[in-house]
Amino acid sequence: MLKVVINIQELAKHFGEVKAVDGVSLKIYKGEIFGLLGPNGAGKTTIIRMLCGLARPAGGKAEVAGFDIVKDSVNVRKLVGVVPQSNVLDRELTVGGNLVFHAKLHRMKKSRYERTIESALKLVGLQDKKNSDPITLSGGMKRRLTIAKALVHEPEVLFLDEPTTGLDPQSKRALWDRIQALSEKGITMILTTHYMEEAELLCDRIGIIDKGKIIALDSPSELKKILKGEAIIDVTHDGSLSPEALMDLEFAGKIDPKHDRMRIYTSKKKEAISFLFTNFSENIISVDFHEPTLEDVFLHLTGKELGG
Ligand SMILES: Nc1ncnc2c1ncn2[C@@H]1O[C@H](COP(=O)(O)OP(=O)(O)O)[C@@H](O)[C@H]1O
Ligand SMILES: [Mg+2]
Repeated sequence: MLKVVINIQELAKHFGEVKAVDGVSLKIYKGEIFGLLGPNGAGKTTIIRMLCGLARPAGGKAEVAGFDIVKDSVNVRKLVGVVPQSNVLDRELTVGGNLVFHAKLHRMKKSRYERTIESALKLVGLQDKKNSDPITLSGGMKRRLTIAKALVHEPEVLFLDEPTTGLDPQSKRALWDRIQALSEKGITMILTTHYMEEAELLCDRIGIIDKGKIIALDSPSELKKILKGEAIIDVTHDGSLSPEALMDLEFAGKIDPKHDRMRIYTSKKKEAISFLFTNFSENIISVDFHEPTLEDVFLHLTGKELGG
């Protein structure tokens, strides 16, 4: 039996008129990497802030390892590690000093934190940087240090809020390796991202979130099946092609017009392409078709590109 580590029921948070989190229910199991995937403003950070006791829900409830996030927030904070969207590092302290400071906030004994700091630095590959000034670290290293900091008190659950946003491809890849290594140690992770590739590579399950609601929830391979059997045809045209011209035709599934590019979802690729060329050869600039990716599923569900 899979053990539920986080149980979220109808969680909500409003900022004035904005429903930042609008009734999210979700179970997260021990040892999994769970991804919250969604565009900017979807509500990802707000969910994480509530789950680690930093923001109070407006409605619903959630438990982390059996502790209520509102009533038992002290216990929740002991059990979770948080890597916030922006690094919080003290420039006055060395790399090691930052970690000791965090350990003291958690009232850890010296004998214990000396051990856990060594192992956290090793896990993120910064063991040689213990006495360095954080200012001298690259963007990827600063991110890894922030992860080490979140690990010092040996949390059961680690929240990673956009761990790789803004990093170059090489640092991103290095960080992905570290996250996978951590997962092998059995720690449960919840990460947010707007990078499809990251979610697909790292996550056992993904919750697609838009406007404060989870609109799809499954493993990456199952999510892709939402568009199973459909081919995606992107037509670039001179502006004269309208969805109405294609709507009644048998081959066309959903049609998504956007300026001079039209996207057609169809299970009859050959017929569709032949129809397009027969009837609109004058108007078509290019036709591109491919099998659905997770990015396409996202676009299909939300009507939005992920961006970033
Ligand atoms: N402290 C706040 N005050 C007012 N509005 C906020 C605050 N935090 C978040 N929001 C709003 O709530 C929504 C969700 O934000 P957020 O959780 O940061 O999204 P994400 O992390 O997915 O980009 C956005 O519309 C954002 O502008
Ligand atoms: Mg955010």
